[in-house]
Amino acid sequence: MNFLVTAGPTREPIDPVRFVSNRSTGRMGYAVAEAALAAGHAVRLVSGPVELPPPSPGIALVRVTTAADMLAAVKDNLPWCDWLVMAAAVADWRPARCAPLKLKKSDGPPQIAWEPTPDILRTIAPLKRPGQRFCGFAAETDHLARNARAKLRAKHLDAIAANDVSLPDRGFASAQNAITLYLADGKKFSIPLASKIQCAKTLIEALEKVGTT
Ligand code: C5P
Repeated sequence: MNFLVTAGPTREPIDPVRFVSNRSTGRMGYAVAEAALAAGHAVRLVSGPVELPPPSPGIALVRVTTAADMLAAVKDNLPWCDWLVMAAAVADWRPARCAPLKLKKSDGPPQIAWEPTPDILRTIAPLKRPGQRFCGFAAETDHLARNARAKLRAKHLDAIAANDVSLPDRGFASAQNAITLYLADGKKFSIPLASKIQCAKTLIEALEKVGTT
């Protein structure tokens, strides 16, 4: 199958030298891309700015910076994929405009007007073709199951990989993770605490089975 994977944060510019972003390292998405390649799939990886070594040569890498860039790259590659796995931590808000010149500290704290970034999964949902499947990620600090299932429905997903980011030993900026995979048909699948590499391998195995049983 063809796997399109997104990873890492996005950066939304405030001025030519400043941006707003989040703590995503991209490790989970890179691990998903590597696990898909190791399982024999063709893989394209759309990556926000990360400090990771480049992925294996077999993975086609598309580097992006902002949520708008990521949306464009996902749209470009969407017709090609059988599975889209959105592991990226897309920034939720961005400054409504990027100041053309560096904001001066001497001018005091800036008043920044914010606007939502495009929700990539919601935007592309109408473009989904028959047989194509989408998996999202949900990083939650509370009510994991309820919030994940709500996102599964709202974003028209086939699966959502939910992880609890309130715990210090997993999730954001950690080398390990524990995932509960919720499927659109109501099934649930637990991937216990393990390295992100191992979680990604188990996740790919679970996604390969979606729709086959
Ligand atoms: O709503 P929330 O950000 O928690 O949803 C997480 C899922 O939605 C992830 O799969 C993420 O990649 C995706 N997402 C998106 N576009 C956004 C924000 C999140 O596709 N602007």
